[in-house]
Amino acid sequence: MSRPVVAITRRLFPDSDQPLQSRAEVRLNPADTPLVPARMVEYAAGCQALVATAGCQVPAEVIEGLPGLKLIANVGVGYNNIDVAAANRAGVMVTNTPDVLTEATADMAWALLLGAARRTGESERWLRDGKWNVWGMGLWLGADVHGATLGIIGMGRIGRAIARRASGFGMQVLYHNRRELPAEESQGARWVGKEELLRSADHVVLVVPYSPATHHIVGAPELALMKPTAVLVNIGRGGLVDDRALAQALQEGRIAAAGLDVFEGEPKVAPELLAAPNALLTPHIGSATSSARRAMADLAIANVVDWLDGKRPRTLVNP
Ligand code: DGY
Repeated sequence: MSRPVVAITRRLFPDSDQPLQSRAEVRLNPADTPLVPARMVEYAAGCQALVATAGCQVPAEVIEGLPGLKLIANVGVGYNNIDVAAANRAGVMVTNTPDVLTEATADMAWALLLGAARRTGESERWLRDGKWNVWGMGLWLGADVHGATLGIIGMGRIGRAIARRASGFGMQVLYHNRRELPAEESQGARWVGKEELLRSADHVVLVVPYSPATHHIVGAPELALMKPTAVLVNIGRGGLVDDRALAQALQEGRIAAAGLDVFEGEPKVAPELLAAPNALLTPHIGSATSSARRAMADLAIANVVDWLDGKRPRTLVNP
């Protein structure tokens, strides 16, 4: 009997496919660039399992173009790159990689918050440009983070890890979620409505998954509610923020700064944001520590192994 075919559509780690080798025929794309949908269908023709990463789009066209497909294992906790409705229609299971990147991503949210509040990007560029002549009382003044009120929109695993770190900074934490969490899960944070959070928080962190319901949850009206001294951090997904409205708010000083790891239409970044000196921008590296990325790849492959062994994949996201 022929062995199942697993297509790994993007370079992972050199030995990531090892647990699959005794169980399946593995097709490995050695390139580090995502395949466009038409190319992915060609590349994965005849496969039963597909391993994708955050940058790989797996739309209905791919799912419907691969009739034998049974499983899509995403390397990433967010899976908005996969058309899950199309997967459900085709009876294809989808898995993600929760937990293993929680702490690394929470660290990065803090790097962006501290960096944007204390203007590390702007002042570093200025120093490298050879502009630093003398120490100055008023040089690169930023906003306090310690003792401030932090607003977290999206109090899932990563939101809670961000909140835990806030206690070390003596901060009060507000959060907004669709539902209020039981006290033991809220890390001492207080649930408030989104508008109240935007009005009251000194700094706001977005960490919700992207879906049509969360598209532009922060746009011009929401930015208008924030304090002029506030920092906005987006560590969730591009599309949660209206990037052009944000760039305008930054340019007009309606908020102080932003720390952004994700962008609408990334890897393209709105030119207006690139032109905003008070935006600290990083290329979707929230989970990019060696150990977190390794654990993400291993968990994605473990899901495929579960399926090959006839078990329920351990981190299945759809029915
Ligand atoms: C995730 O896991 O969703 C990350 O954004 C990918 O690095």
